[in-house]
Amino acid sequence: MSHALRNSIFLLSLLGVPALVHAEPPLDLGQREYAANCAICHGPDGKGGERPTADMPDLTVLANNNGGQFPLARVYGAIDGRAELRTHGLSEMTAWGNYYAMMAIPDHDDYRHSPEAFIRSRILALIDYLQSLQQAAPAP
Ligand code: HEC
Repeated sequence: MSHALRNSIFLLSLLGVPALVHAEPPLDLGQREYAANCAICHGPDGKGGERPTADMPDLTVLANNNGGQFPLARVYGAIDGRAELRTHGLSEMTAWGNYYAMMAIPDHDDYRHSPEAFIRSRILALIDYLQSLQQAAPAP
């Protein structure tokens, strides 16, 4: 065995090649957040769970109900909830913007930063996941 080959095998073993072989699929942040925080009310499939109430929106037809366009700004506002709280009073749903603002603090307490970047990344990941749940418009 050549010296170079032996060296590269040694280096690969240091890099933990066996761990790479069993690598998990990459994490879908939006899917994880949805399962952790939203499925309890909206159901694992976004349709409202086992006991859907009348006021529980079906999250799989957001685009369909909006002429085929995913209503990005409205959904963003509904999830963030902070502006809604000021203008329309209490919703049954948590203002997730406040929740993520609290989560943002311990992550970055060593330098000054705006928690908004953290909040936005979580909400956009959720929106990305919700978009993947959208069902195609029924055939005309
Ligand atoms: C405590 C139950 C509950 C939880 C948990 C919850 N929701 Fe909601 N959600 C509701 C209810 C009820 C509504 C209907 C409007 C309202 O009450 O604000 C709603 C409305 C929405 C809407 C607006 C739909 C539309 O047609 O405009 C979106 C989007 C949404 N939720 C996404 C989420 C996401 C994403 C999460 C997790 C981060 C989440 N919800 C967690 C109960 C919940």
